[in-house]
Amino acid sequence: MPHRERYLFVCINRRDADNPKGSCAAKGSEEIAKELKDALVKRGAHKRIRACTSSCLDLCESGASIVVEPDHVVYGNVTLADVGEIADAAAAGTLVERLIVQPARPAK
Ligand code: FES
Repeated sequence: MPHRERYLFVCINRRDADNPKGSCAAKGSEEIAKELKDALVKRGAHKRIRACTSSCLDLCESGASIVVEPDHVVYGNVTLADVGEIADAAAAGTLVERLIVQPARPAK
């Protein structure tokens, strides 16, 4: 399988419910990851774009968090309701601007 055009890394880290950092899994990211994979398949985009699960991305405060590469942006506070829009944008080669909580850094 060739290198994909785009990767969506969905944090599915889970911490104990009493941990003050919280976790993306506690905010529904496991279901988000599953739905996102399905949404890419439905759009016929899964061979160009891969949704992967990841451990903690150290973006817990804005979870559920997704890192989009190679764009190098972070989608934050993602919910299941956002999945279709994320998949549409990925398939079209665009981004969901309203979900970006950390933009790409300019090249040095
Ligand atoms: S738990 Fe998801 S970014 Fe840390």
